[in-house]
Amino acid sequence: MNDTFLRACRGEEVEYTPVWLMRQAGRYLPEYQTVRSNIDFLTLCKNPKLAAEVTLQPVDILGVDAAILFSDILIPLEAMGMRLEFSDKEGPVLSEPIRSKTSVEKLIIPDVEDDLPFIFDTIRILRKELENKVPLIGFSGAPFTLATYMIEGGTSKNFLHTKKMMFQNSPVFHYLMEKLTDMLISYLSFQIKAGAQAVQVFDSWAGILAPVDYKKFAFPYVKKVISEIKKERVPVIYFVNNCAGILKEVKNSGADVIGVDWRVDIADAIKKLGKKITIQGNLDPCALFLPKEKLEERVKDILWKGETAKSHIFNLGHGVLPQTPVENVIAMVEAVHTYGRRR
Ligand code: CP3
Repeated sequence: MNDTFLRACRGEEVEYTPVWLMRQAGRYLPEYQTVRSNIDFLTLCKNPKLAAEVTLQPVDILGVDAAILFSDILIPLEAMGMRLEFSDKEGPVLSEPIRSKTSVEKLIIPDVEDDLPFIFDTIRILRKELENKVPLIGFSGAPFTLATYMIEGGTSKNFLHTKKMMFQNSPVFHYLMEKLTDMLISYLSFQIKAGAQAVQVFDSWAGILAPVDYKKFAFPYVKKVISEIKKERVPVIYFVNNCAGILKEVKNSGADVIGVDWRVDIADAIKKLGKKITIQGNLDPCALFLPKEKLEERVKDILWKGETAKSHIFNLGHGVLPQTPVENVIAMVEAVHTYGRRR
Protein backbone atom coordinates (compact mmCIF):
# COMPACT_ATOMS: atom_id res chain seq x y z
CA MET A 1 0.00 0.00 0.00
CA ASN A 2 1.03 3.60 -0.53
CA ASP A 3 1.01 4.48 3.17
CA THR A 4 3.20 7.59 2.76
CA PHE A 5 0.37 9.78 4.04
CA LEU A 6 -0.17 7.68 7.19
CA ARG A 7 3.56 7.56 7.91
CA ALA A 8 3.83 11.33 7.56
CA CYS A 9 0.88 11.71 9.98
CA ARG A 10 2.82 9.67 12.53
CA GLY A 11 6.05 11.56 11.86
CA GLU A 12 7.83 8.49 10.44
CA GLU A 13 10.36 8.49 7.57
CA VAL A 14 8.85 9.02 4.12
CA GLU A 15 10.42 8.94 0.65
CA TYR A 16 8.49 11.97 -0.55
CA THR A 17 5.99 14.54 0.75
CA PRO A 18 2.46 13.14 0.46
CA VAL A 19 -0.32 15.33 -0.89
CA TRP A 20 -4.11 15.41 -0.84
CA LEU A 21 -6.52 18.34 -1.17
CA MET A 22 -9.41 19.53 0.93
CA ARG A 23 -12.50 19.35 -1.29
CA GLN A 24 -10.62 17.22 -3.80
CA ALA A 25 -13.96 15.75 -4.87
CA GLY A 26 -16.37 18.34 -6.16
CA ARG A 27 -17.65 20.73 -8.74
CA TYR A 28 -14.32 21.59 -10.42
CA LEU A 29 -14.24 17.99 -11.75
CA PRO A 30 -16.38 17.39 -14.89
CA GLU A 31 -16.73 13.75 -13.78
CA TYR A 32 -18.34 14.97 -10.52
CA GLN A 33 -20.63 17.33 -12.44
CA THR A 34 -21.84 14.39 -14.52
CA VAL A 35 -22.84 12.40 -11.43
CA ARG A 36 -24.35 15.53 -9.81
CA SER A 37 -26.44 16.42 -12.86
CA ASN A 38 -28.85 13.59 -11.99
CA ILE A 39 -28.97 13.88 -8.22
CA ASP A 40 -29.02 16.58 -5.53
CA PHE A 41 -26.07 16.95 -3.18
CA LEU A 42 -27.68 15.50 -0.02
CA THR A 43 -29.10 12.49 -1.84
CA LEU A 44 -25.66 11.90 -3.34
CA CYS A 45 -24.08 11.95 0.14
CA LYS A 46 -26.58 9.30 1.26
CA ASN A 47 -26.07 7.00 -1.73
CA PRO A 48 -23.09 4.79 -0.79
CA LYS A 49 -22.39 3.56 -4.31
CA LEU A 50 -22.31 7.05 -5.85
CA ALA A 51 -20.62 8.66 -2.82
CA ALA A 52 -17.87 6.04 -3.14
CA GLU A 53 -17.62 6.71 -6.87
CA VAL A 54 -17.06 10.46 -6.44
CA THR A 55 -14.61 9.84 -3.56
CA LEU A 56 -12.46 7.80 -5.95
CA GLN A 57 -12.55 10.29 -8.84
CA PRO A 58 -9.74 12.57 -7.55
CA VAL A 59 -7.63 9.57 -6.52
CA ASP A 60 -7.62 8.36 -10.12
CA ILE A 61 -7.53 11.76 -11.84
CA LEU A 62 -5.02 13.60 -9.63
CA GLY A 63 -2.86 10.81 -8.22
CA VAL A 64 -3.16 12.07 -4.62
CA ASP A 65 -1.83 10.07 -1.66
CA ALA A 66 -5.12 9.83 0.26
CA ALA A 67 -8.86 9.58 -0.37
CA ILE A 68 -11.38 11.51 1.75
CA LEU A 69 -14.88 10.19 2.33
CA PHE A 70 -17.46 12.08 0.26
CA SER A 71 -19.97 13.55 2.68
CA ASP A 72 -20.45 16.88 4.48
CA ILE A 73 -19.75 18.15 7.98
CA LEU A 74 -23.45 19.07 8.32
CA ILE A 75 -24.84 15.58 7.63
CA PRO A 76 -24.94 14.48 11.31
CA LEU A 77 -26.96 17.61 12.19
CA GLU A 78 -29.92 16.09 10.34
CA ALA A 79 -29.61 13.02 12.53
CA MET A 80 -29.71 15.36 15.55
CA GLY A 81 -33.15 16.49 14.39
CA MET A 82 -32.40 19.62 12.36
CA ARG A 83 -33.83 20.30 8.92
CA LEU A 84 -30.96 20.70 6.41
CA GLU A 85 -31.07 21.88 2.82
CA PHE A 86 -28.42 22.92 0.32
CA SER A 87 -29.36 25.72 -2.04
CA ASP A 88 -27.18 26.43 -5.08
CA LYS A 89 -27.15 30.14 -4.22
CA GLU A 90 -26.92 30.27 -0.43
CA GLY A 91 -25.13 27.02 0.36
CA PRO A 92 -26.35 25.16 3.45
CA VAL A 93 -29.61 26.28 5.11
CA LEU A 94 -30.76 25.05 8.53
CA SER A 95 -34.27 26.47 8.60
CA GLU A 96 -34.89 26.26 12.36
CA PRO A 97 -31.73 27.65 13.93
CA ILE A 98 -30.84 26.91 17.56
CA ARG A 99 -31.40 30.04 19.64
CA SER A 100 -32.81 28.81 22.99
CA LYS A 101 -32.36 26.25 25.75
CA THR A 102 -35.50 24.41 24.60
CA SER A 103 -34.11 23.98 21.09
CA VAL A 104 -30.84 22.58 22.49
CA GLU A 105 -32.81 20.23 24.74
CA LYS A 106 -34.69 18.89 21.72
CA LEU A 107 -31.49 17.93 19.88
CA ILE A 108 -31.03 14.18 19.69
CA ILE A 109 -27.71 12.43 20.24
CA PRO A 110 -28.04 10.09 17.26
CA ASP A 111 -27.43 6.38 17.32
CA VAL A 112 -24.87 6.61 14.55
CA GLU A 113 -25.23 3.03 13.36
CA ASP A 114 -29.00 3.28 12.97
CA ASP A 115 -29.28 6.90 11.90
CA LEU A 116 -26.28 7.25 9.57
CA PRO A 117 -25.96 3.76 8.02
CA PHE A 118 -24.93 5.17 4.62
CA ILE A 119 -21.67 6.50 6.15
CA PHE A 120 -20.72 3.01 7.27
CA ASP A 121 -21.70 1.51 3.90
CA THR A 122 -19.77 4.13 1.90
CA ILE A 123 -16.62 3.55 3.97
CA ARG A 124 -16.95 -0.22 3.58
CA ILE A 125 -17.32 0.04 -0.21
CA LEU A 126 -14.38 2.44 -0.37
CA ARG A 127 -11.99 0.27 1.62
CA LYS A 128 -12.83 -2.60 -0.71
CA GLU A 129 -12.49 -0.59 -3.92
CA LEU A 130 -9.34 1.22 -2.83
CA GLU A 131 -7.69 -2.19 -2.26
CA ASN A 132 -5.20 -0.42 0.01
CA LYS A 133 -4.05 1.73 -2.93
CA VAL A 134 -4.16 4.84 -0.72
CA PRO A 135 -5.52 5.35 2.81
CA LEU A 136 -9.06 6.61 3.46
CA ILE A 137 -9.64 9.71 5.60
CA GLY A 138 -12.89 10.12 7.57
CA PHE A 139 -13.93 13.53 8.90
CA SER A 140 -16.24 15.72 10.90
CA GLY A 141 -16.67 19.39 11.72
CA ALA A 142 -15.28 20.64 15.03
CA PRO A 143 -17.89 21.41 17.72
CA PHE A 144 -17.52 25.19 17.35
CA THR A 145 -17.81 25.19 13.55
CA LEU A 146 -20.93 23.01 13.70
CA ALA A 147 -22.40 25.24 16.44
CA THR A 148 -22.06 28.31 14.19
CA TYR A 149 -24.10 26.64 11.43
CA MET A 150 -26.72 25.49 13.93
CA ILE A 151 -27.07 28.90 15.60
CA GLU A 152 -26.79 31.09 12.48
CA GLY A 153 -28.90 28.76 10.31
CA GLY A 154 -26.22 28.80 7.60
CA THR A 155 -23.05 30.69 6.75
CA SER A 156 -22.62 34.13 8.30
CA LYS A 157 -20.68 37.36 7.96
CA ASN A 158 -20.12 38.39 11.57
CA PHE A 159 -21.57 35.45 13.54
CA LEU A 160 -23.61 37.76 15.74
CA HIS A 161 -26.16 35.12 16.83
CA THR A 162 -23.36 32.76 17.84
CA LYS A 163 -21.50 35.41 19.81
CA LYS A 164 -24.70 36.71 21.38
CA MET A 165 -25.41 33.22 22.70
CA MET A 166 -21.81 32.90 23.94
CA PHE A 167 -21.89 36.27 25.70
CA GLN A 168 -25.51 36.58 26.86
CA ASN A 169 -26.52 32.98 27.38
CA SER A 170 -23.31 31.08 27.93
CA PRO A 171 -24.83 28.09 29.83
CA VAL A 172 -26.97 27.33 26.78
CA PHE A 173 -23.97 27.70 24.45
CA HIS A 174 -21.90 25.32 26.62
CA TYR A 175 -24.82 22.89 26.77
CA LEU A 176 -24.95 22.85 22.94
CA MET A 177 -21.17 22.33 22.75
CA GLU A 178 -21.39 19.40 25.18
CA LYS A 179 -24.05 17.72 23.05
CA LEU A 180 -21.99 18.25 19.89
CA THR A 181 -18.88 16.86 21.59
CA ASP A 182 -20.72 13.65 22.58
CA MET A 183 -22.16 13.28 19.09
CA LEU A 184 -18.78 13.80 17.41
CA ILE A 185 -16.97 11.28 19.59
CA SER A 186 -19.41 8.53 18.63
CA TYR A 187 -19.61 9.69 14.98
CA LEU A 188 -15.82 9.65 14.44
CA SER A 189 -15.33 6.38 16.35
CA PHE A 190 -18.01 4.87 14.13
CA GLN A 191 -16.17 6.01 10.97
CA ILE A 192 -12.94 4.47 12.28
CA LYS A 193 -14.72 1.18 13.10
CA ALA A 194 -16.12 1.17 9.57
CA GLY A 195 -12.58 1.48 8.14
CA ALA A 196 -11.42 5.13 8.11
CA GLN A 197 -7.62 5.05 8.53
CA ALA A 198 -7.22 8.67 9.70
CA VAL A 199 -9.70 11.40 10.58
CA GLN A 200 -9.70 15.15 10.01
CA VAL A 201 -11.64 17.54 12.21
CA PHE A 202 -12.53 20.72 10.27
CA ASP A 203 -12.61 23.94 12.33
CA SER A 204 -13.50 26.25 9.45
CA TRP A 205 -14.77 29.09 11.68
CA ALA A 206 -12.55 28.90 14.80
CA GLY A 207 -10.55 31.83 13.43
CA ILE A 208 -13.46 34.29 13.82
CA LEU A 209 -13.04 34.17 17.60
CA ALA A 210 -10.85 36.39 19.75
CA PRO A 211 -8.11 34.14 21.19
CA VAL A 212 -9.57 34.54 24.69
CA ASP A 213 -12.97 33.31 23.46
CA TYR A 214 -11.48 30.46 21.43
CA LYS A 215 -9.77 29.32 24.60
CA LYS A 216 -12.95 29.39 26.64
CA PHE A 217 -15.75 28.51 24.24
CA ALA A 218 -14.23 26.30 21.51
CA PHE A 219 -10.89 24.75 22.42
CA PRO A 220 -11.88 22.57 25.45
CA TYR A 221 -14.51 20.79 23.37
CA VAL A 222 -12.39 20.02 20.31
CA LYS A 223 -9.59 18.93 22.62
CA LYS A 224 -11.94 16.44 24.27
CA VAL A 225 -13.08 15.07 20.88
CA ILE A 226 -9.44 14.62 19.84
CA SER A 227 -8.34 12.94 23.07
CA GLU A 228 -11.25 10.46 22.93
CA ILE A 229 -10.66 9.68 19.24
CA LYS A 230 -6.96 9.12 19.77
CA LYS A 231 -7.94 6.05 21.81
CA GLU A 232 -8.96 4.48 18.49
CA ARG A 233 -5.29 4.61 17.47
CA VAL A 234 -5.58 6.28 14.08
CA PRO A 235 -3.97 9.64 13.25
CA VAL A 236 -6.06 12.72 14.02
CA ILE A 237 -5.70 15.87 11.88
CA TYR A 238 -7.06 19.17 13.21
CA PHE A 239 -7.57 21.75 10.45
CA VAL A 240 -7.99 25.31 11.71
CA ASN A 241 -8.92 27.98 9.21
CA ASN A 242 -7.59 31.47 10.00
CA CYS A 243 -5.35 29.88 12.60
CA ALA A 244 -2.59 32.50 12.96
CA GLY A 245 -3.93 34.18 16.09
CA ILE A 246 -4.68 30.97 17.99
CA LEU A 247 -1.73 28.68 17.16
CA LYS A 248 -0.48 28.84 20.74
CA GLU A 249 -3.65 27.10 21.89
CA VAL A 250 -3.99 24.84 18.84
CA LYS A 251 -0.52 23.43 19.61
CA ASN A 252 -2.02 21.77 22.70
CA SER A 253 -5.00 20.16 20.96
CA GLY A 254 -3.45 16.70 21.09
CA ALA A 255 -3.81 16.18 17.32
CA ASP A 256 -1.03 14.34 15.46
CA VAL A 257 -1.31 16.74 12.53
CA ILE A 258 -2.30 20.41 12.41
CA GLY A 259 -3.70 21.75 9.13
CA VAL A 260 -3.11 25.46 8.57
CA ASP A 261 -4.62 27.99 6.14
CA TRP A 262 -2.51 30.08 3.71
CA ARG A 263 -2.72 33.38 5.61
CA VAL A 264 0.12 32.24 7.85
CA ASP A 265 3.69 31.62 6.60
CA ILE A 266 4.09 27.86 7.03
CA ALA A 267 7.61 28.39 8.45
CA ASP A 268 6.15 30.58 11.22
CA ALA A 269 3.40 28.05 11.93
CA ILE A 270 6.01 25.28 12.22
CA LYS A 271 8.06 27.36 14.66
CA LYS A 272 5.01 27.98 16.81
CA LEU A 273 3.75 24.39 16.74
CA GLY A 274 7.11 22.83 17.58
CA LYS A 275 8.81 19.58 16.66
CA LYS A 276 6.24 17.07 17.88
CA ILE A 277 3.51 17.87 15.37
CA THR A 278 3.19 17.09 11.65
CA ILE A 279 2.14 20.14 9.64
CA GLN A 280 -0.40 20.04 6.80
CA GLY A 281 -0.92 22.77 4.22
CA ASN A 282 -0.99 25.45 3.04
CA LEU A 283 -1.15 26.67 -0.57
CA ASP A 284 -3.67 29.46 -1.24
CA PRO A 285 -6.45 27.75 -3.30
CA CYS A 286 -6.27 30.77 -5.65
CA ALA A 287 -2.61 29.96 -6.39
CA LEU A 288 -4.08 27.25 -8.64
CA PHE A 289 -4.94 30.10 -11.01
CA LEU A 290 -1.27 31.13 -11.39
CA PRO A 291 0.73 30.30 -14.54
CA LYS A 292 2.47 26.93 -14.16
CA GLU A 293 5.99 28.26 -13.38
CA LYS A 294 4.70 30.61 -10.68
CA LEU A 295 2.56 27.83 -9.22
CA GLU A 296 5.65 25.58 -9.06
CA GLU A 297 7.61 28.31 -7.27
CA ARG A 298 4.90 28.53 -4.60
CA VAL A 299 4.81 24.74 -4.23
CA LYS A 300 8.61 24.59 -3.87
CA ASP A 301 8.62 27.39 -1.28
CA ILE A 302 6.08 25.51 0.88
CA LEU A 303 7.92 22.19 0.43
CA TRP A 304 11.22 23.77 1.38
CA LYS A 305 9.76 25.37 4.50
CA GLY A 306 7.90 22.14 5.29
CA GLU A 307 11.27 20.37 5.63
CA THR A 308 11.77 22.21 8.95
CA ALA A 309 8.77 20.43 10.52
CA LYS A 310 8.68 16.99 12.11
CA SER A 311 6.87 15.93 8.96
CA HIS A 312 4.84 17.67 6.24
CA ILE A 313 1.69 16.73 4.34
CA PHE A 314 1.09 19.02 1.39
CA ASN A 315 -2.43 20.40 1.02
CA LEU A 316 -4.21 23.62 0.18
CA GLY A 317 -4.90 26.16 2.93
CA HIS A 318 -8.63 25.56 2.35
CA GLY A 319 -10.85 23.73 -0.16
CA VAL A 320 -10.45 23.64 -3.96
CA LEU A 321 -12.66 26.31 -5.54
CA PRO A 322 -15.29 25.14 -8.07
CA GLN A 323 -13.81 27.34 -10.85
CA THR A 324 -10.32 25.75 -10.59
CA PRO A 325 -8.86 24.33 -13.85
CA VAL A 326 -8.32 20.59 -13.34
CA GLU A 327 -5.02 20.62 -15.27
CA ASN A 328 -3.56 23.07 -12.74
CA VAL A 329 -4.52 20.79 -9.86
CA ILE A 330 -2.83 17.87 -11.64
CA ALA A 331 0.26 20.05 -12.22
CA MET A 332 0.33 20.94 -8.52
CA VAL A 333 0.20 17.31 -7.39
CA GLU A 334 2.97 16.46 -9.89
CA ALA A 335 5.11 19.35 -8.62
CA VAL A 336 4.76 18.12 -5.03
CA HIS A 337 5.76 14.59 -6.04
CA THR A 338 8.69 15.86 -8.14
CA TYR A 339 10.20 18.46 -5.83
CA GLY A 340 9.15 16.99 -2.49
CA ARG A 341 11.47 14.00 -2.65
CA ARG A 342 13.82 13.73 0.27
CA ARG A 343 17.46 14.03 -0.67
O1 CP3 B 1 -13.59 16.10 -1.15
C1 CP3 B 1 -13.79 16.36 0.05
O2 CP3 B 1 -13.11 17.20 0.68
C2 CP3 B 1 -14.82 15.56 0.80
C3 CP3 B 1 -16.13 16.10 0.85
C4 CP3 B 1 -16.45 17.35 1.65
C5 CP3 B 1 -17.52 18.22 1.30
N1 CP3 B 1 -17.68 19.14 2.28
C6 CP3 B 1 -18.33 18.09 0.09
C7 CP3 B 1 -19.13 19.22 -0.38
C8 CP3 B 1 -15.92 17.83 2.85
C9 CP3 B 1 -14.74 17.32 3.66
C10 CP3 B 1 -16.71 18.96 3.24
C11 CP3 B 1 -16.50 19.71 4.49
C12 CP3 B 1 -17.28 20.95 4.74
N2 CP3 B 1 -18.58 21.21 4.42
C13 CP3 B 1 -16.78 22.04 5.47
C14 CP3 B 1 -15.40 22.15 6.08
C15 CP3 B 1 -14.38 22.60 5.10
C16 CP3 B 1 -14.56 24.02 4.63
O3 CP3 B 1 -14.83 24.18 3.42
O4 CP3 B 1 -14.40 24.94 5.44
C17 CP3 B 1 -17.81 23.01 5.53
C18 CP3 B 1 -17.74 24.37 6.20
C19 CP3 B 1 -18.95 22.47 4.86
C20 CP3 B 1 -20.29 23.10 4.71
C21 CP3 B 1 -20.64 23.30 3.28
N3 CP3 B 1 -20.92 22.27 2.39
C22 CP3 B 1 -20.81 24.53 2.58
C23 CP3 B 1 -20.60 25.91 3.20
C24 CP3 B 1 -21.20 24.22 1.27
C25 CP3 B 1 -21.61 25.17 0.16
C26 CP3 B 1 -20.51 25.93 -0.41
C27 CP3 B 1 -19.53 25.10 -1.22
O5 CP3 B 1 -18.33 25.21 -0.95
O6 CP3 B 1 -19.94 24.37 -2.12
C28 CP3 B 1 -21.21 22.80 1.16
C29 CP3 B 1 -21.53 22.02 -0.05
C30 CP3 B 1 -20.57 20.96 -0.48
N4 CP3 B 1 -19.89 20.11 0.35
C31 CP3 B 1 -20.24 20.62 -1.82
C32 CP3 B 1 -19.36 19.53 -1.77
C33 CP3 B 1 -18.77 18.77 -2.94
C34 CP3 B 1 -20.83 21.26 -3.07
C35 CP3 B 1 -22.14 20.62 -3.30
C36 CP3 B 1 -22.58 20.63 -4.75
O7 CP3 B 1 -23.26 21.57 -5.12
O8 CP3 B 1 -22.30 19.65 -5.46
